[in-house]
Amino acid sequence: MTLVIAMDGPSGSGKSSVSKGVARALGLRYLDTGAMYRAMTWWMLREGVPVEDPAAVAARAAEPVLASGTDPDAPTITVDGVDVSGPIRGSEVTGAVSAVAAVPAVRERLVALQREIIGAGGIVVEGRDIGNVVAPDAQVKIYLTASAEARAQRRNAELTGVTITATQADLARRDRLDSTRKVDPLAQAADAVEVDTTSLGLDEVIEEVLRIARKHLAAA
Ligand code: DC
Repeated sequence: MTLVIAMDGPSGSGKSSVSKGVARALGLRYLDTGAMYRAMTWWMLREGVPVEDPAAVAARAAEPVLASGTDPDAPTITVDGVDVSGPIRGSEVTGAVSAVAAVPAVRERLVALQREIIGAGGIVVEGRDIGNVVAPDAQVKIYLTASAEARAQRRNAELTGVTITATQADLARRDRLDSTRKVDPLAQAADAVEVDTTSLGLDEVIEEVLRIARKHLAAA
């Protein structure tokens, strides 16, 4: 298999910016699996599916047609041909996505789709369960962390009209839901290298991940 870099970690740890930067530096594709869970959630909300009811979500999980563009300079996500890159970042989807992502039928479908996109490799894949479930054979596995305060500050900078305290409470709620769910919870893979990004700038984190990747590839 050609190179697969698995990038896991909690919300606000910097996964997206770091993954895109690493993909650009190495000429790899980029897949944001969180965007796929968000797109599935956007579709459920649009269809009026009660997202807190796992059976109702499971019953419709096979319906939406999802497509992910993997260019790190212009990642896209469409549902039934509609580009939802903007709406999936809204507070309605963000508030509902952990419930939808906890439904086994949703995960089975999206993990299968993610493996199809990964194909023969040449890709940086970001998410929560990439190193453990989606791509357990990935040659390089990174687990990004940062303090709760740093993560809330970063997320807050992307939002308008929300206090840091509210953002930190929302991140804590999602962390709890994502890491305590029964199926494929957020967890560091045993063979992942942890990178704490609390006091590092974006370029420093990208450099560190590239250094780890080179070391692993040289040893392989
Ligand atoms: O990374 P993000 O905030 O866009 O992810 C959105 C949600 O999707 C997050 O609450 C956890 C879930 N998710 C998941 O369960 N598994 C993944 N591989 C990626 C995201």
